[in-house]
Amino acid sequence: MTRFLNLLICISLLAALGLAADDNSIPAQAERGKQLFMKSAKGVPCGTCHTLGGIGTAVGPDLKKLASLAMPRGLVMAMQLTVTEYVQEVKVTGATFSGIQQQKTGDQIEIWDLSQLPPVLKKFSSKDVLSMARNDKWKHPPASAGYTSKELADLIGWLKWASMGSRKEIKPSEVEVSQ
Ligand code: HEC
Repeated sequence: MTRFLNLLICISLLAALGLAADDNSIPAQAERGKQLFMKSAKGVPCGTCHTLGGIGTAVGPDLKKLASLAMPRGLVMAMQLTVTEYVQEVKVTGATFSGIQQQKTGDQIEIWDLSQLPPVLKKFSSKDVLSMARNDKWKHPPASAGYTSKELADLIGWLKWASMGSRKEIKPSEVEVSQ
């Protein structure tokens, strides 16, 4: 009898595990989007500059909050923005580049140099940073990558799944932005 009970417990545990695994499994669309995020042949892969779902490098802003809040079309518009909010024109002794500040501790400033790919994190002492001002040269790579609506839908599928666990299929018509 105890053996039978043990067996029963084992079977229900396995079934529960199986169900949990099913729930957590990545939907096909999100998987396609994840592949694009990490190694798209078009433009520069998002993961070069963003981290989400445990992959990628955190150079640009954290996408988790925006990805979970914005509608698919809003996310595409954010990807295609041509004005920057965080990227600045950085002038240091001897050089000027498009950069994004990572952190400032005491007299040290760490700035991602976006003129190189992948971006390089550089350390400066405050006195060597001559200015950081509005930048009009740097362009967000996805704005000109020429992604198809299907690719954009897959990317958004990944952003939605990785940020909030949404399994909802994103249709290409949901990401089309009329210009
Ligand atoms: C070369 C680095 C780089 C690549 C590649 C890149 N991004 Fe970005 N992304 C940035 C930076 C830097 C910003 C902030 C721009 C600014 O100053 O406003 C940004 C902003 C964004 C924003 C707006 C976030 C916000 O809170 O305003 C979204 C959404 C986004 N990126 C998504 C993507 C996706 C999706 C891809 C791939 C298809 C991608 N990015 C590829 C660097 C990059």
